[in-house]
Amino acid sequence: MSDNTTSKTQPMRIVVTGSAGKLGRCLVRALQADGHMVRGYDKEPGGEETVVGDLINYNLVHQVCQGAHAICHCGAIPGYNGDDISMFGTNIRGTFNVFLAAARGQVRKVVFASSLAILLDKGLGDPLPLEYLPMDERHPPRCQDIYGSTKLFGEELGRVYAVQHGMSVICLRPHHIIYREPDAFTEPVGEGNVACWDVVEAFRLALATDRRYGVYNITGKDWTHITAALAAEELGYKPRW
Ligand SMILES: NC(=O)c1ccc[n+]([C@@H]2O[C@H](COP(=O)([O-])OP(=O)(O)OC[C@H]3O[C@@H](n4cnc5c(N)ncnc54)[C@H](O)[C@@H]3O)[C@@H](O)[C@H]2O)c1
Repeated sequence: MSDNTTSKTQPMRIVVTGSAGKLGRCLVRALQADGHMVRGYDKEPGGEETVVGDLINYNLVHQVCQGAHAICHCGAIPGYNGDDISMFGTNIRGTFNVFLAAARGQVRKVVFASSLAILLDKGLGDPLPLEYLPMDERHPPRCQDIYGSTKLFGEELGRVYAVQHGMSVICLRPHHIIYREPDAFTEPVGEGNVACWDVVEAFRLALATDRRYGVYNITGKDWTHITAALAAEELGYKPRW
């Protein structure tokens, strides 16, 4: 992997949930290359450092998070799958379990993979009009399905845990992530997309920041509909593609 990164931190013990997934695998690889001790957690087997378990199993989540400095919470059902009950279990109950385990285990930082599904209009005749463009993080939420609403719940739950337990919670909102090896990104990813390695860099920046709480849109270079200006200003995020 090309290592044109800006945001390495001191070595930490980091738990990555969803480590067998597409983003999780990129993140584990990048964080290990940065010198961190990474432990994965996923219901599917992944690399040798992955503990196989379900996010809805609180006891196991708690065990895995013990002694961690930070958690990158990527485990989720990553889009509306038509099954509201499994979505509720994994994305809401599972996210709650991660924040609870972080608080009880005195983990100082959680980076939450949220989503721009909170803001996007799928043309379903939303009665709430778009208020302005480009949309930033202050734009009122416009979730179009239960998936978006689970991410909104996670952001708000994270804020509550940051306030009540003094941990740092950073919520990153990518939209459609394009997964390729770094060398295969030869041009900007285009409106509506973001390169996986830009998302990974946003996670690195989120791990490095001292901010207590933040919600950030994470877009590719050319996005005009939604702006990542706040991530640029507060985290130093600069998409490469
Ligand atoms: N892919 C995108 O375009 C996109 C965009 C915005 C946000 N996100 C978010 O980024 C994160 C990673 O997405 P991805 O593209 O890598 O998806 P993915 O499906 O490849 O990875 C998700 C991982 O979570 C694991 N998982 C699902 N349910 C689980 C459970 N109950 N217990 C334990 N593990 C479970 C899966 O096994 C999988 O490995 C998700 O939180 C997703 O909502 C993704």
